[in-house]
Amino acid sequence: MLKLDLSNAQGFLPQDWLDRRLPALEQAHRQVLEGNGPGGDFTGWVTLPRDYDSAELVRIKAAAEKIRSDSDVLVVIGIGGSYLGARAVIELMSSADRRLVRGRPEIFFAGNGLSSDELAGIIDYLDGKDFSVNVISKSGTTTEPAVAFRIFKALLEEKYGKAGARGRIYATTDARKGALKGLADAEGYEEFVVPDAVGGRYSVLTAVGLLPIAAAGIDVDRLLSGAREVMEALAVPGRDNLAWQYAAARNALYDAGKAVELLVGYEPSFRFFAEWWKQLYGESEGKEHKGLFPASVEFTADLHSMGQYIQQGQRILLETVVRFSHSRRSVAIPHDPDNVDGLNFLSGKSLDFVAEQAMRGTLLAHVDGSVPNLVLEAGGRDEASIGALIYFFEFACGVSGYLLGVNPFDQPGVEAYKKNMFALLGKPGYEALRAELEQRL
Ligand code: PA5
Repeated sequence: MLKLDLSNAQGFLPQDWLDRRLPALEQAHRQVLEGNGPGGDFTGWVTLPRDYDSAELVRIKAAAEKIRSDSDVLVVIGIGGSYLGARAVIELMSSADRRLVRGRPEIFFAGNGLSSDELAGIIDYLDGKDFSVNVISKSGTTTEPAVAFRIFKALLEEKYGKAGARGRIYATTDARKGALKGLADAEGYEEFVVPDAVGGRYSVLTAVGLLPIAAAGIDVDRLLSGAREVMEALAVPGRDNLAWQYAAARNALYDAGKAVELLVGYEPSFRFFAEWWKQLYGESEGKEHKGLFPASVEFTADLHSMGQYIQQGQRILLETVVRFSHSRRSVAIPHDPDNVDGLNFLSGKSLDFVAEQAMRGTLLAHVDGSVPNLVLEAGGRDEASIGALIYFFEFACGVSGYLLGVNPFDQPGVEAYKKNMFALLGKPGYEALRAELEQRL
């Protein structure tokens, strides 16, 4: 079960930081649970771990088994909330068990940018391999995944024929509308649903995340059960609620002048979890010129780069450290009779022991440098712990957004670049904007 240690942030917080926020927390809590705050139509994720459509879950597992039996590679096409959650879970689980990395199928992510070199590299890699595609887009109209899907669809049809390709394409999209829905219906692809009431960045525990995660050989029942356990705990209001504590502490630190929250991980495989977290908090809170800027660092590597800024740069930072309880594998430091490197004081010690001391020393140094540290103990890197962590951050994000006074479930700012891109690409209907932009450029 999750634990949140705020002892290394207390010194930066006024004494009443939690008490004075209790009424607002109570209200935010109800708004998230009852879906009656701003954006309340998008709180369908709140009960998902308990109320998941069991028939769809059966289909997800069957599709995952088929992909595992007939594909060397699964190409997952999606951007933003339509891919980050799956990638976060798959990568976090993968280095815990290398068989998942080397195993079949390998998972590639495409359509999350517009890099020709990246896409061409995946196409080269697929040469001579059996592959399937899971295209994911709630709106069904997002340019990056739509363009990538057109390319991989053509590759599949060239390799397997139209009928063969149909059996290797899985479309995850809206139940009723959008270009992808229309295409999937017309072509007869197997379809999975992104529920209306779940926005992209809160969708990892829907088919959006669960199909690729299951195809990677990860136990989605355990992921959901870990999330369910935390869902039940966080549904209980009160000052012991960890989501309340996290939301209130970051809100109080924001009020005290902190502007950037660094999510700190000590595992390279945590990188995409941090990317998922950044989207969750950045898109949910970064509006109306408000919100902590969510960033991430990977220690100890970044202690040798960003560590300088964290220790002595502008005092605008707070850190949220996610700690996993143990490594799956142990590496011991050998004894060397010559001891030229002077490291025999570590002989026989494990690398985990060294990492633990690095973590403890860093925490104290950063606190001494006026960087408050919130420490989240996340259990092991197993499905249940990861499910719990996902739900914790989602629930806390909803509460935190309401505490900040914004709608945590919309993303109006994402549209600005899209309009300009469509205009510059010459999309019909954008002629006037195109002329205006071309003149400015
Ligand atoms: O969180 C969000 O809403 C976004 O990141 C979307 O997930 C992203 O823009 C992709 O949208 P779609 O799934 O409609 O293609």
